[in-house]
Amino acid sequence: MRIAVTGGAGFIGSHLVDSYISAGHEVLVIDNLSTGKAQNLNPKALFSNADIRDAAAVDRAFAQFHPEIVNHHAAQIDIRRSVDDPAFDATVNVVGSIVLLQQAVRHGARGFIFASSGGAIYGETPEPAPETAVKAPISPYGAAKAAVEYYMFVYRRTFGLPAVALRYGNVYGPRQDPKGEAGVVSIFAGALLSGAAPTIFGTGEQVRDYVYVGDVVNANLRAIDYLLAGPPVPRTPGDQAFNIGSGVSTSVNELYRMLAGIVGFAGDPVYGDPRPGELMESRLDISRARTVLGFSPEMSFEQGMRKVVDWLSR
Ligand SMILES: NC(=O)c1ccc[n+]([C@@H]2O[C@H](COP(=O)([O-])OP(=O)(O)OC[C@H]3O[C@@H](n4cnc5c(N)ncnc54)[C@H](O)[C@@H]3O)[C@@H](O)[C@H]2O)c1
Repeated sequence: MRIAVTGGAGFIGSHLVDSYISAGHEVLVIDNLSTGKAQNLNPKALFSNADIRDAAAVDRAFAQFHPEIVNHHAAQIDIRRSVDDPAFDATVNVVGSIVLLQQAVRHGARGFIFASSGGAIYGETPEPAPETAVKAPISPYGAAKAAVEYYMFVYRRTFGLPAVALRYGNVYGPRQDPKGEAGVVSIFAGALLSGAAPTIFGTGEQVRDYVYVGDVVNANLRAIDYLLAGPPVPRTPGDQAFNIGSGVSTSVNELYRMLAGIVGFAGDPVYGDPRPGELMESRLDISRARTVLGFSPEMSFEQGMRKVVDWLSR
């Protein structure tokens, strides 16, 4: 199978590329290396150093490669940047995605996979949110993810492109930047390993669904089988979506305690002011992915954190 992976030099995308290559697929990576790293690029993948907003460049790359599946993981992922500069966020995250949908149809792709966000589109979820929950994003980043899901619905209904939106929880694992803006496990582990107490913004009682990158990769492999089997025509955008998480909610305070225990750091965290616009509760109901995709998260949070600590200690 020929699979184009946008964002294939980034954290999640590079793990995806590695697993697709191991499974014997041919892969084209499209990435502008804005946050992705050249050292993450799999040498067996073709690489196009292009911006997803550049329709002519994507057109050229697809004309040579003829992708059967387009797996779209390139994005501006910094929520605070989306708040400061929502127009920039929308050009990358909305317009760039539309360019890819259009080029996927133009070049006859059989399916489109999109990295959406369960954490950013539902808003506060005191109970685990199913895919049918009302979308109530509170950041431009979340609004952009929701908008792309509507465009995917249009492209399915009007142009016949089968599509799947994988709504991730908080993904963590090796290669996530410990100096980045997202990824509390890597950021805290990086600080603790250097002997510094990390800062917890707010009370630390905010809860999230943390899912290991290997489990996310597994969901992406299953999404291909689902697309090729000819999924039913969706009646709403939610019918094309799957929550991908661990199904377990953990507070930042609990996360800190577990990680400090693994690293052997005895000190207390520093508490800072809560960040404006940050959710208190983000919980995901993953039963649809379990039933329809056969998805089953394997990695315990403790084991996954150890993998991040080992990776950062190398
Ligand atoms: N990490 C998470 O917890 C999480 C949660 C929900 C959704 N997601 C989504 O998963 C995807 C991957 O996220 P990640 O955590 O691996 O982030 P990342 O920053 O490591 O990866 C994003 C990649 O996209 C590339 N990119 C950015 N703008 C581009 C552009 N205009 N043209 C071409 N390439 C561009 C970057 O260089 C990078 O390689 C994103 O769509 C993100 O929104 C991530």
